[in-house]
Amino acid sequence: MMAVRFLKIAALYLVAGMTLGAYMGATENFTLAPVHAHVNLLGFMIPTLIGLIGLVRPAVLETRLATVFFWLYQITVPVSMLALAWMLIGHRSIAPVVGIFSGGMWLAALLYAINLWMTLSHTPKNSP
Ligand code: HEM
Repeated sequence: MMAVRFLKIAALYLVAGMTLGAYMGATENFTLAPVHAHVNLLGFMIPTLIGLIGLVRPAVLETRLATVFFWLYQITVPVSMLALAWMLIGHRSIAPVVGIFSGGMWLAALLYAINLWMTLSHTPKNSP
C-alpha cells in the first residue's frame, strides 16, 4: 500500500535528519543545517502527511499518477539532499544537479496537487 510505503520511508528520514541534527550540535558545525532541515521537512514531514492522507482516503494514492509522483519524489529527494550536502561542503560545481533534482521534486509536488484535486472529492473515507 502506497500510504504505508510513504510512512515507512519517512520514518527513516526522521532518524537520518535527527542524527544529522545531533551531529551538528555535538560538533558545533552547522554547515549542513539546510540539509538537516530539508531531510526532516521534505523527507519526513511531507511524506508523513501524504501517507496519513492515504490512510484516511486510500483511493487518493491508488492512481497511476500517485505511483508516478511517489517514484519521482523518492528518487529526487535523496539525490538533491546528497548533492546539496556536497555543494555546502565546498563543491559548488554540483549546483546544477541540486537545481535539476529540486525541479524534479517540484514536478512531483505538482503531480501530487493535480492527483489530489482529481481524487479527493469523490473518494470514500476509509471506514475503521
Ligand atoms: C534530534 C532532533 C534534532 C536535533 C538534535 C536538531 C538540531 C538542530 C541544529 C543543531 C540546528 C542548527 C541550529 C543553528 O544553525 O544554530 C538545527 C536547525 C534546524 N532544524 Fe533541527 N534538529 C532536530 C530535529 C528537527 C526536526 C524534526 C525538524 C523539522 C521537522 C528540524 C528543523 C530544523 C530547521 C528548519 C532548522 C534551521 C535550518 C537552517 O537554519 O538552515 N529539526 N537543528
